[in-house]
Amino acid sequence: MREVYLNGQFLPEDQAKVSIFDRSLLFADSVYEVTSIVEGKLIDFKNHMKRLDRSMKELGFEKSLNHDEILNFHRQLIKLNNLNEGIVYLQVTRGVFDRDFTISKKNISPTVFAFTQEKKIVESESSKKGIKVMTVDDLRWKRCDIKTTQLLWPSLAKTEAFKKGFDDAWMMREGYIMEGTSNNAWIVRSKNVFTRQSDQLILSGITREAVLNCAKNLGYEVIFKNFTLPEVESATEAFITSATSFVTPVIQINEKKIGEGEPGEFTKALRAEYIKQAIKSSI
Ligand code: PDD
Repeated sequence: MREVYLNGQFLPEDQAKVSIFDRSLLFADSVYEVTSIVEGKLIDFKNHMKRLDRSMKELGFEKSLNHDEILNFHRQLIKLNNLNEGIVYLQVTRGVFDRDFTISKKNISPTVFAFTQEKKIVESESSKKGIKVMTVDDLRWKRCDIKTTQLLWPSLAKTEAFKKGFDDAWMMREGYIMEGTSNNAWIVRSKNVFTRQSDQLILSGITREAVLNCAKNLGYEVIFKNFTLPEVESATEAFITSATSFVTPVIQINEKKIGEGEPGEFTKALRAEYIKQAIKSSI
């Protein structure tokens, strides 16, 4: 059984309990971060913390949390659970008070919890085979830049994709691809790599940020631009980025193969470059 973290304590997972009045249960009033772990070390932790601060600020949480304390309990969890590769999931909720649409109470203490999950990320099956995605309407709210736990639509969309034989869904608004259910979307055309500009309609990925530099290191130009389904269909390669997938090739969209219908050479090189840089700077 795993040891998890809840409000300052380490507990066996079946003993960690939160109130039914927690705002995260009643209103999805909470934010989260997922940090990948390779060789027992955290990838890009500082940038995850910056985004956590931003998400909390955008929702008007009263105080930010101490990053050193968070780092400390992340490391403790890695140690207690003997985690070599996988993720640490962190969630911060606004806290507990009687159900009320108005956030009226002052000085609420946030509920903070975290747990580990083992996962093969570096040598994942999907990175070798590539994934198939299906397009769906993006029915999320219009503040997808805040990493909240309002994940029902992405979860339903990914489930639907699985049922239809796909690995994931790419969400679309007004004819443009926004992002995957839990990852950023990219396409490649000759020596250019395209990814959507970040605004309130997508999450600005931490992996995406690091991958921008890796693409430049490989001599590619990164262009921030909205792209359409026909543009994906005619791209030479496509891929996703996230803390749980790093850089993973997309080989098919709906019924259409992308490029040769196999992981492309650039995507493979980009993944290798990203992993090299990520491990080098892990803490
Ligand atoms: N998801 N877009 C969405 C909607 C996401 O949920 C995520 C991450 C990303 C990629 O962000 P990053 O590179 O910082 O992981 C983009 C995490 C992994 C999750 O929900 O499990």
